[in-house]
Amino acid sequence: MAEKLWQGRFDQPTNKLVEEYTASIHYDSRLYRYDVEGSVAHCRMLAECGIISHEEASRIVETLGEILRDLERGHVALDSSQEDIHMAIEKELITRIGETGGKLHTARSRNDQVALDMRLYMRDVLSQIVILLHELREAFVSKAEANLDVIMPGFTHMQHAQPVLLAHHLMAYYEMFRRDSDRFSDCLTRTNVLPLGSAALAGTTFPTDMEWTARYLRFPKVVANSIDAVSDRDYMIEFCAASAIFMMHVSRLAEELILWSTSEFSFIEISDAFCTGSSIMPQKKNPDVPELMRGKTGRVYGNLSALLTLTKGLPLAYNRDLQEDKEPVFDTADTVLATIRLLSKLLPEIKVHREVMARMAGQGFTLATDLADYLVRKGVPFRKAHYIVGQVVQHCIQEGKELGDCSLEEFRTFHKAFDEDVFPYLQIQSVVDQRTSVGGTATSRVTRAIAAAREDLRASEKLLNPELRPKK
Ligand code: ARG
Repeated sequence: MAEKLWQGRFDQPTNKLVEEYTASIHYDSRLYRYDVEGSVAHCRMLAECGIISHEEASRIVETLGEILRDLERGHVALDSSQEDIHMAIEKELITRIGETGGKLHTARSRNDQVALDMRLYMRDVLSQIVILLHELREAFVSKAEANLDVIMPGFTHMQHAQPVLLAHHLMAYYEMFRRDSDRFSDCLTRTNVLPLGSAALAGTTFPTDMEWTARYLRFPKVVANSIDAVSDRDYMIEFCAASAIFMMHVSRLAEELILWSTSEFSFIEISDAFCTGSSIMPQKKNPDVPELMRGKTGRVYGNLSALLTLTKGLPLAYNRDLQEDKEPVFDTADTVLATIRLLSKLLPEIKVHREVMARMAGQGFTLATDLADYLVRKGVPFRKAHYIVGQVVQHCIQEGKELGDCSLEEFRTFHKAFDEDVFPYLQIQSVVDQRTSVGGTATSRVTRAIAAAREDLRASEKLLNPELRPKK
């Protein structure tokens, strides 16, 4: 039975079941790098402030470096008797250098230590997400640019509504992902605050220097309240909320990709490398990747819900319940990172069936609004024009034809304002290109939207922290 670092007050060893039940090491061990980084900063600060000697600090820092290397090689045994990664590393330090190692935890508690580790971890994750979202946004802009001349039916209520550019549809997702990126950046600002030094909940009696630690760990701010520092988890909740919204956007896109690749739609084809087959039906090529993106959205929502429920009834300050905060955050981060990476690769590989889209764009009376607008331009009040075109549509349904198939004589039986110029007016390309209102689908507008997005991407690229770029 390994002796606990907090054993002093106890007569009996911990029950084995309790040990297993309370341990978090099997999932918080992934924080080991951050834990060492935080301990090194803390130790140097203690020396700077004269709380421990510089010799002691050097010995501790050096050994922490060795422990880190050994952890990386899997040479440090981690098991539930060590409870969590913080205890495991501190215990290893004491095993290696004895009493001096026992000085590291001066003016610190695991409560502020774990808060620091999670903030360091999330800072990395958030920066990676923002960088990957940048790539994803670029992928959308490129896809839109390459398909600027593709017209498709735009939908409302899943019914053909009006023709739009595929590029316009794609740029709608660009806008969603741009806002998602803003949400993650915003969350990063609030995460990027140093909690270490708050100790158990009340601060410390030692003459520490939290500003020093903050500078060392590149935190622009120090927490203002020690109780808040060890008990609050709102930055994690914010992260899970931003992730839930992001996955909701992904899921809508996934739904469209699935739908559009059915034989009924045939708008697109997802490349073989991103599809899987069936174990029984030899003909099948299934869109499992978007299906799983849609499916994984559920677990990300669940993680947000878990965190909100976890924290809602907790009195201040730290309670052990908070140990349960990590798995939802890790799972969310893993899911979001993997999803963005895959989506950025999948998107360029989508083959667009432009002729099918174009054919469908004119079907289902998608030009009816334009026909009404035509009459309005001839002086007919819109409400009346709407009614007249409704009658034309009814006539076409009976005759089994589209609006464009009607002759001028037929149109004229509904209103005398119809004239020869109605036909060029009803050309699909011109119908699209006339929608020049701000944010509209006209080629001129979408071209500008693409240029603005490119400019936005160039500007935000400069702000991306190269130090935090994901390792390839
Ligand atoms: N493993 C713990 C957690 O994740 C670390 C903090 C433990 N603090 C305590 N007072 N028992 O929350």
